[in-house]
Amino acid sequence: MENSIQDKNSVGTGGISKEILKDLYSKAEKAVVNAYVPYSHFRVGAALLTGDGEVFVGVNVENRSFGATNCAERTAVFSAVAAGKKDFTALAVCAPDADYPVPPCGICRQVISEFMDKDVPVVFGPVWEKTVFSSVSGLYPEDSLHELAK
Ligand code: THU
Repeated sequence: MENSIQDKNSVGTGGISKEILKDLYSKAEKAVVNAYVPYSHFRVGAALLTGDGEVFVGVNVENRSFGATNCAERTAVFSAVAAGKKDFTALAVCAPDADYPVPPCGICRQVISEFMDKDVPVVFGPVWEKTVFSSVSGLYPEDSLHELAK
């Protein structure tokens, strides 16, 4: 199964080295301290690398109206877009309260696919040692509605 989460070892890293991904992951891990999670107590941090080498971090920001909660991944993407960035080369996600690698949720996959090419690496794990290496197309193989963006 090419490009699936299960086949993590065969998924490429889109030309981004493992060292860079590890460094990006550590930034996601550090960001976790700012997660606002009074309801789930489940902290998530994300770090997004831009084409010009900047890193934007995000955390999950929960809300007492649960549907208003924003995941860490979308916080990172929206923060970068608000700063004028739309060219992204890698995304790292750290969910240290899980005992397995938690991939981005469905809504985040849709948002990720809006801004990232299919070969952009997406790495996620509770700790670096348990991190899964996937990609945008690995997470969202049947992306929809791209024709609307043309
Ligand atoms: N969450 C994220 O921030 N990213 C994910 O990839 C999965 C889920 C957040 C949303 C909510 O604040 C908490 O984790 C539990 O679902």
